[in-house]
Amino acid sequence: MTDVGQPLAQEHTLDRDCTTLSRHVLEQLRSFSAEAQDLSAIMNRIALAAKLISRRLSRAGLVEGALGFTGNVNVQGESVKKMDLYANDVFISVFKQSGLICRLASEEMEKPYYIPENCPIGRYTLLYDPIDGSSNIDVNLNIGSIFAIRKQEGDDIEGDARDLLQDGHRQIAAGYILYGPSTMLIYSIGTGVHAFVLDPSLGEFILANENIQVPNHGPVYSTNEGNFWQWEESIRDYIRYVHRHEGYTARYSGALVGDFHRILFQGGVFLYPGTVKKPEGKLRLLYESAPLAFLMEQAGGKASTGTESILDVVPDAIHTRTPLIIGSKEDVALVESFIQERART
Ligand code: AHG
Ligand code: MN
Ligand code: MN
Repeated sequence: MTDVGQPLAQEHTLDRDCTTLSRHVLEQLRSFSAEAQDLSAIMNRIALAAKLISRRLSRAGLVEGALGFTGNVNVQGESVKKMDLYANDVFISVFKQSGLICRLASEEMEKPYYIPENCPIGRYTLLYDPIDGSSNIDVNLNIGSIFAIRKQEGDDIEGDARDLLQDGHRQIAAGYILYGPSTMLIYSIGTGVHAFVLDPSLGEFILANENIQVPNHGPVYSTNEGNFWQWEESIRDYIRYVHRHEGYTARYSGALVGDFHRILFQGGVFLYPGTVKKPEGKLRLLYESAPLAFLMEQAGGKASTGTESILDVVPDAIHTRTPLIIGSKEDVALVESFIQERART
């Protein structure tokens, strides 16, 4: 109902507040097909997971048993935080009785988790890093969750989700949640990158930015220079270059999602290179690098291992790691140029 006298601004606000995530997905797909409805419903459940995790984080310091370590070591060989486990289970729970997601592959689980009641009809798989930047949890600094959605191919008779071992072009959607001063959800289904802010008074994610485009160049380079002497000489050449040239600034938060988010909006490059001892680096392809590469390319940026586009990499296992150089086209190309230069000599 539009009151003739209603000021446009008010009308705009009402419409803006009604541009929730599930509505936006349907608008992007320009379709109400069963598949569009599935994707919209999946994103809605991811939004619920984000709200549950955000709520727990906002009170973690007051909730008995929310912070600290579980005492277990995960498949990555990393000590598991209680929040890692909570978030891991939240993503499983929100998809129960959904008929949507049959399998979940997580950084925290050696093998994919199957939700039996969904599997006969659920043709989607969620790949996720439930909490990214775990070292920031107990000191109340920004952390995130990263996710990608793929379609199940074949019947997975062996139950080993072998069809997931394909390149990142198989992703039908990807995104992340950033638990910062505000909780934001950024996603893409291949029609641009869009950002939503959680309005706690509504309990809804509301559209804040549409069709985000990363600047072709930015001042930020983001990497853990504590690894300087572990890197290949080519990466050291790049670091020496940005040290010696005006216009660069270092920003590194310890959470990939936070560093990525800054670069998405302001430009620059994040790099987690391989080391001489671990040439494959630390970050995991299927639920960290590939989803973010999908987003970055949708936003006009670039993501590579240094020699190959991240989205072309075919993993040989669920937890395969690759080096990651991701961000503005020009800045990623600059890092790659030092790698190519060293390869020539
Ligand atoms: P996670 O907490 O999911 O294991 O991810 C942590 C990752 C990434 O978020 C961050 O950029 C990087 O590890 C930090 O690693 P370093 O402490 O080695 O720099
Ligand atoms: Mn992570
Ligand atoms: Mn993690």
